[in-house]
Amino acid sequence: MKMEMAEPATGPTQPSTYRSQGELPRVIHADGNPGVEGLISWLTGQADYVRDQLTRHGAILFRGFDVTEANDFERIARAIDDGLQSEYLGLSPRNALTDYVFTASEIPSLFPIPEHNEMSFVAHPPRSVFFWCKSEPAAGSGETPLVDMRNVYKDLDPEVRERFERRGIRIVRNYRAPGKQRPWDLTQLKPWADMFQTTDHAIVEEKCARENFTPIWGEDNSLKLLSFQPAAKAHPRTGEMVWFNHAAVFHTSNGDGELRRIFLLRPSLRSFLAWIAGKTYTVAQRRLRNSDDLPMHCTYGDGTIIPDSDMEAVRDAIWKNLVITPWKNGDVLAIDNDSTGHGRLPFLGPRMIAVAWA
Ligand SMILES: [Fe+2]
Repeated sequence: MKMEMAEPATGPTQPSTYRSQGELPRVIHADGNPGVEGLISWLTGQADYVRDQLTRHGAILFRGFDVTEANDFERIARAIDDGLQSEYLGLSPRNALTDYVFTASEIPSLFPIPEHNEMSFVAHPPRSVFFWCKSEPAAGSGETPLVDMRNVYKDLDPEVRERFERRGIRIVRNYRAPGKQRPWDLTQLKPWADMFQTTDHAIVEEKCARENFTPIWGEDNSLKLLSFQPAAKAHPRTGEMVWFNHAAVFHTSNGDGELRRIFLLRPSLRSFLAWIAGKTYTVAQRRLRNSDDLPMHCTYGDGTIIPDSDMEAVRDAIWKNLVITPWKNGDVLAIDNDSTGHGRLPFLGPRMIAVAWA
């Protein structure tokens, strides 16, 4: 079978972006009807080229290959990076579709997920992240924005960047005891027993030691996790500096800062009310609780607060480089997690995006 991959300069496969980057993601579009088998055989024969393109662009979108099954998505991901992993120590509740494919996030659809590099705070973060669109969301919603964190590093206010790089970041997560979840609390983290896949404290502690998390058990079997991470790192293959941390997810200003930008991007009564709700929640949480007792929180590595103005500078650099591409059914997105972050915009109605990582 002969198959050619084309990268159209214009036309329906050209991403529509918030700020046109032109290069992220690189789009590889099916020419003819090669299907899943055609794509896998092409990827297998072009492994070096694909890896080079992934490193260069930060992400590749494979469009038009009619991927409808989770097993096929897993095989495509393996053809790009055969080191798929299944242990997930991040925040999103996820459901398994295969041993290595999961729903991307069961966080309620009106919540945005700020841009981040997958599991940046563990000892060995994934090098590749894959998404698959089984069911595309309504137009103008539910995209997975991408951001080249190499550009974020360059664009960030140098004084702010210096503070982050010198001090690093301290992350606090508070998990309720298993069985003590409150259904009405939309801000609580998923149960720690779900994240660690065990209720055995010794196994949790062993996993924490591997990831450099400090576990602190509460008398009621709740769990506080402390961890530290640098703000940036050198890309392992190119040496370029990358903004690589989770502050944009963990900081308490994020509900306000992210939702305000989403309202400005997509003004509507709903996005306005979401912003006001996020702002109100931030103010209330800061007044009512010690910051280290919030479900999640971060400070500079020395424990000093990260001012909202510093986080605004980070969000400005991220949003300046944000690329928003609408999902199409059957899309597969491969991301170089060492350079490129991803997030999620709110949506209404059905949407089914799955994830795998290596
Ligand atoms: Fe993620």
